[in-house]
Amino acid sequence: MQQKSQYYTRTAQWLHWVMAIIFITAWVIGFYSGNFLSYDVDGPFKGDVITLHKNIASVIIFLVIIRIFWRYTHPVPELPATMSPLMKTLAHLGHLGLYFMLLALPITGCLFSWSAGHPVPVLYLFEIPRLVQDNPDLTAIVKPLHIYISWAAGLLLVGHILAALKHHFIDKDNVLKSMTRQG
Ligand code: HEM
Repeated sequence: MQQKSQYYTRTAQWLHWVMAIIFITAWVIGFYSGNFLSYDVDGPFKGDVITLHKNIASVIIFLVIIRIFWRYTHPVPELPATMSPLMKTLAHLGHLGLYFMLLALPITGCLFSWSAGHPVPVLYLFEIPRLVQDNPDLTAIVKPLHIYISWAAGLLLVGHILAALKHHFIDKDNVLKSMTRQG
């Protein structure tokens, strides 16, 4: 049997780190706008910040499609043999959860914008064609969904980062290096 590499492919590593930067940036901007800005006090600045959030976050939609394709067509490194079966299951569930967030946040975000009558711009270059018309009933569902999923994503992301740091500094295994180096 062919030996699995200890490292993710260069493409998988690039996708991981580029998406991490975009996701965290979009998250912080969305959280800032949603919790610290209001139209009453901040006026059009809030609209500008939401527009920035959308222009950055919408890139995830394109990257996640490439990433899922790449994930299923290329082998990934095994988790360390020192990990218990329970921890391996938790790691797999955590990764599945993160993929879910990468899909669910842009989807609910787009539905939120479109149903409220707003566009979905991408990197200030073009707009994603509208798939739903103005629909306040839909907004009432997807708006809280987007917000709750974003909070869950924030928690999962913190857990993911802490787990990676534990592997690197406490367990001193290859998990973090598998995403940064090539053999
Ligand atoms: C990876 C993608 C995304 C992440 C991580 C993300 C994250 C967030 C977060 C953390 C919030 C603040 C929630 C709160 O109020 O506590 C938020 C709000 C919001 N997001 Fe997203 N989001 C993403 C994608 C999108 C997309 C693609 C759109 C639309 C095209 C969008 C539209 C919005 C809007 C309109 C708000 C409300 C902002 C406000 O009320 O000030 N989001 N998002």
